[in-house]
Amino acid sequence: MNPPEQPVPPQPLQEDMDSSWMLGPDVLFLNHGSFGARPKAVFDHHCSLLLRFEQQPVQTIVAEMEQLLPSIRDSLSSFLKVSSDRIDLVCNASEAVNSILRSIDIAPGDELVVPDHAYGAVLKTLQYVADRTGAVVKIVHIPLPLESSDQVVEAISSSITDRTRLLLIDHISSPTAVVFPINDLVMLARDRGIDVLVDGAHGPGMIDLDLDSLGATWYIGNLHKWVCAPIGAGFIVTDPSHLDSLHPAIISHGYQEGHVEEFNWQGTRDYSPWRTIPFVLDWIERTWGWQRMREHNHQLAVWAHSMLCEAWHVDPVTPLDGSMMGSMATLQLPGRIRDSHDSEESLHDLLLSSHGIEVPIMEWAGLLWIRFSAQVYNRPEHYLRLRDVVLSMA
Ligand SMILES: Cc1ncc(COP(=O)(O)O)c(C=O)c1O
Repeated sequence: MNPPEQPVPPQPLQEDMDSSWMLGPDVLFLNHGSFGARPKAVFDHHCSLLLRFEQQPVQTIVAEMEQLLPSIRDSLSSFLKVSSDRIDLVCNASEAVNSILRSIDIAPGDELVVPDHAYGAVLKTLQYVADRTGAVVKIVHIPLPLESSDQVVEAISSSITDRTRLLLIDHISSPTAVVFPINDLVMLARDRGIDVLVDGAHGPGMIDLDLDSLGATWYIGNLHKWVCAPIGAGFIVTDPSHLDSLHPAIISHGYQEGHVEEFNWQGTRDYSPWRTIPFVLDWIERTWGWQRMREHNHQLAVWAHSMLCEAWHVDPVTPLDGSMMGSMATLQLPGRIRDSHDSEESLHDLLLSSHGIEVPIMEWAGLLWIRFSAQVYNRPEHYLRLRDVVLSMA
């Protein structure tokens, strides 16, 4: 039998990549996953829209938005591979989840099933809805380490009962960076007549999406993370059978004029992040290419993951071949660091203030974890520096 292939880092997509990004030179940035980062061209375009708004506030909002909103949804439609009349724009994933959960009929005793890897704020929204309706939030433990996606399907499948009203799953989980087997999970839920909401806050830009084929009741995504749009751009994609019952979390002038009108106007707000969407989709395609960017980031993350597990002598929580990873990975910290730091903040602040490294440290399931991201501005030497700094602290 041939030995397993050792991962290798990818070639950079561009010489002098740093000059294309807004990120400052003083920090080694390994946290694209939290709030993304913007290329300079995207920032400049966004600024030009803000300027135009200040020069002609009424014309910009009223006339241009009416004309532009359909084309913004059209550009997303090709990127997400789903028809534009199923897309609604929101500011972020939290707004999307709130809109959906507060639009569905939930009865006392209904079960809202969610894995324990879900994002904390999403769990709180579920709890809020359960508290108001008498439903029960059923948190499913997904064991770690994961050797195959079958373990996820099995854990969720065995938690579904006749009382299950909703399954809420991550596409890529925030604390553990696991790529969930959403195709299988959506099929499982729909076969049993259960609505399924996929939290794809990290999905667009990290994974190639085909939302028409996926068939989820709702898929929600952020565009400021891996699409690199300005903060304030996100979306909901809804199954046609549920479009009439979907309402935004904020009810305004559009009420009862259909979901598109309802989401388009939720009170006076800054439309410039939405208006930047077609520009960023097109600019990245022309500059690096979405597929090349995704492949680069995945390859870099898989290499760094394997290299760090070996150097720190920690077991991976997902397979080393990267089959359950996108372009982020979560690892345990070497034992001596875990023992000598009791809070995520103190370790995060030490890495930033003493070593200039921005990387999230997470407390999850009672342990401290480190989650790194890989984006085109990251290079292999960034992860080698992280390796050495952590080893020197241990
Ligand atoms: C999986 C997941 N869901 C939801 C959210 C919430 O996103 P936002 O704060 O943009 O609403 C995040 C944020 O990082 C996330 O990682």
